[in-house]
Order: sequence, then structure tokens, then C-alpha cells
Amino acid sequence: MYNNLTVNLEEQVTIITINRPKKLNALNQDTIQELHEAFKTADTDDNTKVIIVTGSGEKAFVAGADISEFANYSVEKGMHLAANGQKLLFDFVENLSTPVIAAINGFALGGGLELAMACHFRVASNTAKMGLPEVSLGVIPGYGGTQRLTQLVGKGRALELIMTASMIDANKALSYGLVNHVVPQEELLELCKTLAAKITKNSTVAISAAIKAVNANFKTGVNGYHTEITKFGNCFGTEDFKEGTTAFLEKRKAEFPGR
Ligand code: COA
Repeated sequence: MYNNLTVNLEEQVTIITINRPKKLNALNQDTIQELHEAFKTADTDDNTKVIIVTGSGEKAFVAGADISEFANYSVEKGMHLAANGQKLLFDFVENLSTPVIAAINGFALGGGLELAMACHFRVASNTAKMGLPEVSLGVIPGYGGTQRLTQLVGKGRALELIMTASMIDANKALSYGLVNHVVPQEELLELCKTLAAKITKNSTVAISAAIKAVNANFKTGVNGYHTEITKFGNCFGTEDFKEGTTAFLEKRKAEFPGR
């Protein structure tokens, strides 16, 4: 169904694997469009409660936007590339109702790190290497990297990484708070699936509200405390809330209907 991706659903978790290993899974326009479709399909699928995104092969998560595609672009085309990519993939993923975990299995550079940073959280293999090397090509990160790296690691670290165009290893990324866990390559997907399994036991409607409330912290002109109050209140009208509180009082495990 997809040329550049594989998609598997098991135990309420959809795993999207970017599959252009010969190009280190670089994000060309086709792949960005396919990722948009795959994320949209998984987000609207009632059987999917968590999405994991990873790269095929042992070498790369994603080695960046496909440089061969934009090398001859004009100013206007460059602007369109960034705007369209942000809308179709990076902002889209960040604002999904379904939790998205990035399983960083190797190089996550440029657009690759930007994709990982648009996910709700990140787990890395101990072989992973991360960076935003765009200034070494005479350009800056255009898929949200200047904003999300700054949010995740702070201004000084973000500017050092961007200005030096250097890569950091998984343990440094862990110490920066850029990734939540570092594990050997062969344990990467297992850990992501274990974390996903914990998430699937909880209320999907409450999780979706939590994503929106946390994201509100980073939206200009939006008061995140107000978003939290509204979302918190809305939870009281859901079947999941009735089930969650009733199950607690009846001393049994909740079976959330997801409504
Ligand atoms: N865009 C297009 N093609 C890419 C790519 C990218 N971002 N990253 C890797 N590739 C391609 C290479 O051109 C090469 O293709 P070829 O075999 O047809 O020549 C193939 O993937 C393998 O990459 P190669 O560079 O030979 O592997 P390496 O192990 O020597 O180096 C990297 C790995 C990641 C250090 C190196 O590929 C690299 O620096 N990539 C670009 C990273 C970057 O600047 N990303 C930001 C883009 S904005």
C-alpha cells in the first residue's frame, strides 16, 4: 500500500516504519505524504491506541530531509517546502489525539530529529546519533527544529547544537532530556511496546485531552491553564471518567470504552 513505509498493527499499537534504508530513510516528499496518510489512518483507527514510529535497518531512524530533492530550490519553493512539511507531518503528529512514540534506532539528523521531536516522547538505542546539521548545508532547520529543540533542551544547548552542526550520542541526548530512555538496539522496540502497553490500559479520551493541554503550553496566545480547566471539566462528561471512577470505588480494573 505504501512505497516508502511499512505499517503493522499489533495489540492496539500501530508501528510505522520508514523504509528507504538505502537512503538512510531520508524524508523525500513522497515519504512525507505517505507518513501523513499513515498517521492519519492510525489516529482515526479505533483499534490503535498508540503509534510507534521508527526507521528500517540498524543504521538510521531518518538521516534528514532528502537533500537531492531541494538542492535547486528557489526562495519561494524553500518556504513552501517548510510550510507544507510542517503542516502535513510535523505539526500534524504533534497535535494527534493518539500518543506517538519515536523509537530512534540510529541517525536522527535534520528532518529526522525534527520528526522525533514532533512525537510525544522519544526512546533511543545506544547506537543513536542526533543532530540538526542544516547550517553545514547553508540552511537552517525548517521542520520545526529551531522551536522544538529549544523547548526540549533549552536555548543554549539548542543553539550550540544548531551552530556547530554536531551530533550527540544517545547518552548525551538522555542527559539533555531529548530522549526519555536509552537501551541496546535489540531492546528498543520491546521497550517502546512495553511503554505503549501501559498507555493502552488508560483512558484514550483523557490521554487525548492531556496531549492538547500540554501542547497548549507552547501555543502563542493560548493560556494553557485555561485549556487545562476546560479539558479537565470535559472529562467529567465522558463514559471513560464514569468507568474509571466507578472501577476504582468497586476495587476492580477499569475497562475504558474510549468515549
Ligand atoms: N538526503 C538524501 N540522501 C541521503 C541523506 C539525505 N539527508 N542522508 C543520506 N543519504 C544517502 C546518501 O547520499 C547515500 O546515497 P548513495 O548510496 O546513493 O550515495 C546513502 O544515503 C548512504 O549515506 P552515506 O552518506 O553513504 O552513509 P555514511 O554512513 O557515509 O554517512 C551520514 C551517514 C548520516 C553521516 C551521512 O549520510 C549524512 O551526513 N547525511 C546527511 C545528513 C544531513 O545533513 N541531514 C540534514 C538534511 S537537511
